[in-house]
Amino acid sequence: MKRTLIKNISVEKGNIVTIKGWIDVARDQGKMAFFDLRDATGKVQGVVFGKPEVLEVAKTLRPEWVVAVTGIVNERNDKSAQEFKEHEEQTGTRDFFIKDVEIEITEFEILNRAETPVFEINESTADINEEVRLKNRYLDLRTERMQNNLRMRHKVAKLCRDYLDEQGFCELETPILTKSTPEGARDYVVPARLSPHQFYALPQSPQQYKQLLMSSGMERYFQFARCMRDEDLRGDRQPEFTQLDLEMSFVTEEDIMQLNEELLIKIVTELYPEKRIQQVPFPRISYAEAMEKYGNDRPDIREDKDDPNLLAFCWVIDFPFFEKTVDSDDPQAQGEWTFTHNPFSLSKPEHIDNLKNKENIGDIIAAQYDITLNGYEIGGGSVRAHDAEVLKSILSILGHSDEKIEENFGHMLQALGSGTPPHGGIAWGFDRLMMILQNEKTIREVIAFPKNGEGREPMMDSPSAVSQQQLDELHLALKPLKKES
Ligand code: AMO
Repeated sequence: MKRTLIKNISVEKGNIVTIKGWIDVARDQGKMAFFDLRDATGKVQGVVFGKPEVLEVAKTLRPEWVVAVTGIVNERNDKSAQEFKEHEEQTGTRDFFIKDVEIEITEFEILNRAETPVFEINESTADINEEVRLKNRYLDLRTERMQNNLRMRHKVAKLCRDYLDEQGFCELETPILTKSTPEGARDYVVPARLSPHQFYALPQSPQQYKQLLMSSGMERYFQFARCMRDEDLRGDRQPEFTQLDLEMSFVTEEDIMQLNEELLIKIVTELYPEKRIQQVPFPRISYAEAMEKYGNDRPDIREDKDDPNLLAFCWVIDFPFFEKTVDSDDPQAQGEWTFTHNPFSLSKPEHIDNLKNKENIGDIIAAQYDITLNGYEIGGGSVRAHDAEVLKSILSILGHSDEKIEENFGHMLQALGSGTPPHGGIAWGFDRLMMILQNEKTIREVIAFPKNGEGREPMMDSPSAVSQQQLDELHLALKPLKKES
């Protein structure tokens, strides 16, 4: 029989239907058996009574078994059905649990059995040990909360895609096996078998490629880009994360900020109508003011920090272009100039001469902006240097020799010198945005298969050793591990 999705079952009153899904809860009451049945679209109650042969099968069924059940859809007239009706009338919303009807089951087909799950698959597994959840991630993802997190992530991504498409953006992919880009974090490297002793780097962001797409005349690019950074982990940091990355030609800082603001507002009003944005247009705070007033550059400006539905977006602007290194691993580099965002930014127009002449370096303000939400940095970007001479000057302030500049950035300089339009862009930390929208405490809750605090993925058990043959093919030899003192 054709499958009926649980969400569509209410209109089938009096009809015989087949639903396919999981046994969520099984309750044996002697002459009757009750089940909560679950599929990706909802839950509904099933009852078995009468037919002894069906009841016999019913009593063997356990939670998380996969079944096809056939039966007649009956109206429920008990208390919970009444409450459901009232709830529906008052709120106009439909629960995940369909309570106005139930299925009187006449036939079961067992599609697969299941071991007793290591934790109960219920509304939320927030209190279960996270390592156990990650080890059994597919079970964890069956829960209502995690299903909702992933489905909302999809909806937000789809809204972004549709909006950017309407605005003339083209979604493009850029290489994952690439060359290291100077974004400030450690690279993950991949040995290149065909070029022994050489390595690809995984992208920390598609920064250079997206700028090169502007040199290519694409004018408006975006991508849900996977970025890899080998840095210490926190609740809002993963070694592998997703950016909504975009770049635009012939625009000012203002154009980029406005487009992003419009998109963020659209996400909230269309997909999170229960949430309130504290201030529109989003307030703007200079970096200096943020540091002075809040002591950091991602100020939490919420007027009520207990309100889970309050979204306080804020732009942080006017960042210094350069700062002196303070915590470099290399003592020789202490006190040298480093960039605060990335070396490809442009300064504010009034500081371009300083940039070209390498004067008043500490006072140069970048044409750069961060977007923060409830105390988290959820994105950042800048207008870029599109003039090869300006980029060269920035790189030399950063201490790169002419030789190094040519070696590492020759391709960028050539591209800029080949007719590259003025351009700029931004990247959102998409996981962070989703974490806040879903009222979650870590980005791991909005990522299907995240890494744990040690950068490991406990389900697949990665990273893991490779065979001697693989090492030989790559011309790699492993040094013995140093003993921890
Ligand atoms: P940036 O390095 O600021 O900019 O990154 C953009 C946004 O990505 C998020 N983010 C992270 N999220 C999770 N885990 C991490 N390890 C992590 N690191 C960063 C943050 C951050 O604001 N190429 C530039 C963008 C540009 O200039 O267009 C870039 O990558 O929310």
